[in-house]
Amino acid sequence: MARLSDAKISEILQSVDIVDVISLYLPLQKKGKDYKAVCPFHNDTNPSLSISPARQIYKCFVCGAGGNAFTFLQEYLNISYLEAVKKVAEIGGIDVSELNFNTPTKKVDEKLVPLYTMHDEANKIYRHLLHTKTGLAAHEYLQSRHINDSLIEEFDIGYAGRDNQLYMAFQNLAYKEVDMVRSGLIIDGEHGAFDRYRDRVMFALHDADGKVIGFSGRVYRSNTDESKYMNSPESEIFIKSRTLYHYHKAKEPVKKAGFVYLLEGFMDVIALSRIGIDNTLAIMGTALTNEHMNMIRKLSNNVYLCLDGDRAGQSAAIKSAKLLLEHQFNVKMIKLMDGMDPDEILEQFGEETLRIALTSTMDPIEFEIQHLYENTNMANHEETREFIQRSCQLIANMTNPIDRQYYIEMIATRSNSDQNVIKEFWQSLQTNKVVRQPVISPVVRNDYKRLDKYQKAERHLLFYMLHDKKVCDLYEQKIGFMFDDMNRIIASYIVDYYRTKEKMTIASFISYIQNTKMVEYVLEIMDENLPEEVEMKVIEDYIETIKINTQAKEIEQLKLQMANELDALKKAELAVKILEIQKN
Ligand code: UTP
Ligand code: MN
Repeated sequence: MARLSDAKISEILQSVDIVDVISLYLPLQKKGKDYKAVCPFHNDTNPSLSISPARQIYKCFVCGAGGNAFTFLQEYLNISYLEAVKKVAEIGGIDVSELNFNTPTKKVDEKLVPLYTMHDEANKIYRHLLHTKTGLAAHEYLQSRHINDSLIEEFDIGYAGRDNQLYMAFQNLAYKEVDMVRSGLIIDGEHGAFDRYRDRVMFALHDADGKVIGFSGRVYRSNTDESKYMNSPESEIFIKSRTLYHYHKAKEPVKKAGFVYLLEGFMDVIALSRIGIDNTLAIMGTALTNEHMNMIRKLSNNVYLCLDGDRAGQSAAIKSAKLLLEHQFNVKMIKLMDGMDPDEILEQFGEETLRIALTSTMDPIEFEIQHLYENTNMANHEETREFIQRSCQLIANMTNPIDRQYYIEMIATRSNSDQNVIKEFWQSLQTNKVVRQPVISPVVRNDYKRLDKYQKAERHLLFYMLHDKKVCDLYEQKIGFMFDDMNRIIASYIVDYYRTKEKMTIASFISYIQNTKMVEYVLEIMDENLPEEVEMKVIEDYIETIKINTQAKEIEQLKLQMANELDALKKAELAVKILEIQKN
């Protein structure tokens, strides 16, 4: 079955008029060039939803809901993106019976074919070797870790022998030596080519379509000083920033559970699978990237973050949580016992304990306060003060008084302080708060007048980036940064979008970003009353304004740090940093 390509998705979107699609579900009234309806996405009796046939989008002026024909059906019928695409195809009379809706997009590049087939062959060979005499010790190792044959099968686990079995097989299969090296599986040494992996337990790594694109090989003997895991090097098909372990199999289980567990290593994915939990992904020891997040979003907006219980794992968890929150995910955190990972908990304490651990979730702020607490010696006054300051910073922007009180109590208890003292400190943060947008709260239309010139410059630049690739190129060359989190994220999406397309079609850009809040924000920017034709000078002014603002904000933050810094040497370092920025 043919795959659903980007081109096909565009064709499907263009096969319908958004007015016809929405009118299947809502009564519409024509008002000038546009149509109006009572918005179904919030409680209303006025026609606040506006549908533009020219731009093929809809937008509610009250609740901000907006998007294209796909998002309308997604939101209105509560169905997935692909289901919505299918539905639009039906409405538009496009025959999709020959299309595979399970695996969207991408035509395999001819050049890459041998790399894929070699990985497929390698996977077969490794799997076979695990069940031979040479693989016996590796097989026993897996069993000692309670990975039985059905898991071995399911997770494509194998064994790399000691005798260049892969290289020999590839020669017999008449692969070119250059291709072997390109695949990363074979190394071209001084004394001839040889297998990269030797005497290791092999875990296949897959892409989103389930094709094998790399391996991670684990040492399984204790008497060795080699590093525990060896991963395939980056290749044309194995790109770490776009690889999440178990992604190709997580879709259905995530849909059922309504959320995804984001784990540290593939052993943890396998451990959870042992107790019947398969809505899992692993980042495999790297940092979470934008591309990872785009992938995760296709499965769910709800992420339960569960990284190792050691200190590094916990700090990584806090960093990842912040990134995920910036990208509009709903995040819960799971705190594991000291230094342990899910696999170790299962081994040492059993299934029940692991299940309980996995369902005891925390809010990211609570998790971070707890983390600070565990790394503070409350017997030391300076450390206690630092704990209170940093914890209060975390709730500095919290507007809900119920949540705020909850955390103030928590901080007071943890630091053995009086609640009133914590409250007073929190208050003091309100007066000398560094002016910074709270993490991603799209500025609503009514607040527009309150935007300062810097925020306006960012939004106006986004407006023109959405209209013209040249502006986007200039942005990338000159700054590549915006101060406001939401603006910066939208800008990065626009940059990504233009990588494959010369012209922006707003309806297709919307299906590219998918996230509802971001879509609404983009539509709001599109609604800015700006002339479409603009001189480059104006664009350059925006860029300059943003640059000045970014530097000023940085300096402001550094000055604040300086004021709070007691150590003279560190104070001097900060002063140098400020000077450097001012010189630029
Ligand atoms: P861990 O060290 O937590 O491994 O690394 P683990 O999952 O607990 O594995 P076992 O139980 O010791 O067998 C987490 C992830 O970091 C990457 C791997 O992808 C691993 O799954 N890693 C770790 C490496 O790439 N290289 C290493 O040497 C170690
Ligand atoms: Mn482990």
